[in-house]
Amino acid sequence: MDKFIIGGGRPLTGEVTISGAKNAAVAILPATILAGGKCVIENLPDISDVAASVRILHEMGAAVRMLDRTTLEIDTTRVDTTVVPDHLCRQMRASYYFLGSLLGRFGEGTVSMPGGCDLGPRPIDQHLKAFTSLGATDSVEYGMVSVKGEPLVGAHIFFDTVSVGATVNAMLASVMAEGMTVLENVAKEPHIVDVANFLNTMGADVRGAGTDVIKIRGVEKMHGGDYSIIPDQIEAGTYMVAAAITGGNVLVKNIIPKHLEPISAKLERAGAFIEEYDEAVRVSRPGPIMSVNVKTMPHPGFPTDMQPLITVLLCLAEGTSIVTEGIFENRFRYVEELHRMGANIQVDGRVAVVEGVGGLQPAPMRASDLRAGAALVVAALAADGTSEIDEIEHIERGYECMVEKLVALGADIRRVSRPAETRAKAF
Ligand code: EPZ
Repeated sequence: MDKFIIGGGRPLTGEVTISGAKNAAVAILPATILAGGKCVIENLPDISDVAASVRILHEMGAAVRMLDRTTLEIDTTRVDTTVVPDHLCRQMRASYYFLGSLLGRFGEGTVSMPGGCDLGPRPIDQHLKAFTSLGATDSVEYGMVSVKGEPLVGAHIFFDTVSVGATVNAMLASVMAEGMTVLENVAKEPHIVDVANFLNTMGADVRGAGTDVIKIRGVEKMHGGDYSIIPDQIEAGTYMVAAAITGGNVLVKNIIPKHLEPISAKLERAGAFIEEYDEAVRVSRPGPIMSVNVKTMPHPGFPTDMQPLITVLLCLAEGTSIVTEGIFENRFRYVEELHRMGANIQVDGRVAVVEGVGGLQPAPMRASDLRAGAALVVAALAADGTSEIDEIEHIERGYECMVEKLVALGADIRRVSRPAETRAKAF
């Protein structure tokens, strides 16, 4: 149970290099099962969700070799089971991607029912709709989700709701189905395109990823492939907000500017000054933070994963901002922690009314999920004084070397281990 100790009130200056995209990595790693051969995956972020995915692959019989800090060689030739160990599934939500890749290669797969988390219910009905449309049967019992079907036959699938996970899982399951699969009302995030590009590297025929319609022509067999994962747009956005809220000047390197367009546009409206280069953006904030209204939407709308971050920035804006969460039912739980810092936010369901205040006060806080935890770090960096953030394991699921990267930008942040509470120490 570690925590961060943060001495805020210092402008961040310098350079930060963005790591590989978490939400691409946790899909591409399970997808290697489809190869039945050797893949080399580069630019993997060193985060616990990636470690969990690798542990699952290894437990299932894949041969995994680290070629360097961010590059893994994964040989799934000898994957010898179609059941993902329950105790490993619970470590991260994205274990449901193993359903799609196991079904696509072996005609069956079983994983633990993915947990909900602090964002509200996280159903998988659209994933199951994709699998059953391809001819598989599904069963959900004893907390396990199983799908089975062979051969799978291509189908025309129109999703009832835009879902990143279901779009990815439908691609994974259909790459070796018989005939053509057409997916409509799909997610278009950069990591969807990344997964499609990786599948094509392994011999699949996936076209249209990133548009409203994805077409997958089934192939007989897949093979290994080498691939480098795109940079993480949300990690980049996090450091962009940290630069803006502290009134600093930061060069955010190893990014794809197009992936940041919805984030950059909103930050500029809020008073940030953003200079764009080929693979970097420089963020500063010469004047006041301005109030803006935000609604999170599927890509190319403003990303839901940036909602906690932009809300923290708007806590210090001149005026009132309205933040509407268009994707998840309950993604404002972190606001209670911001109230401890003197933020003036009123939440009603999916809408938060943010009244700008003159400053945030340091406070002891607790991270509840990945992006909420990152938002508390950013808030603490802006507050004059020392804050503590507990349960930082949530943050380290998706942010590589956050302490080192922030210290390099001049932040006063350190990680301390807090011994687990024991009765003997309770009194
Ligand atoms: C992915 O979650 C990301 N996780 C999330 O990032 C991200 O917030 C989310 O996409 C939206 O961009 C990974 O990629 C591992 P969805 P996912 O399916 O796939 C509803 C982070 O911080 N829905 O796009 O689970 C769902 O309830 C994490 O990195 C159904 O109704 O999200 C939600 O309201 C947090 N039925 C909406 O769709 C389904 O079968 C979008 O969810 C699936 C989803």
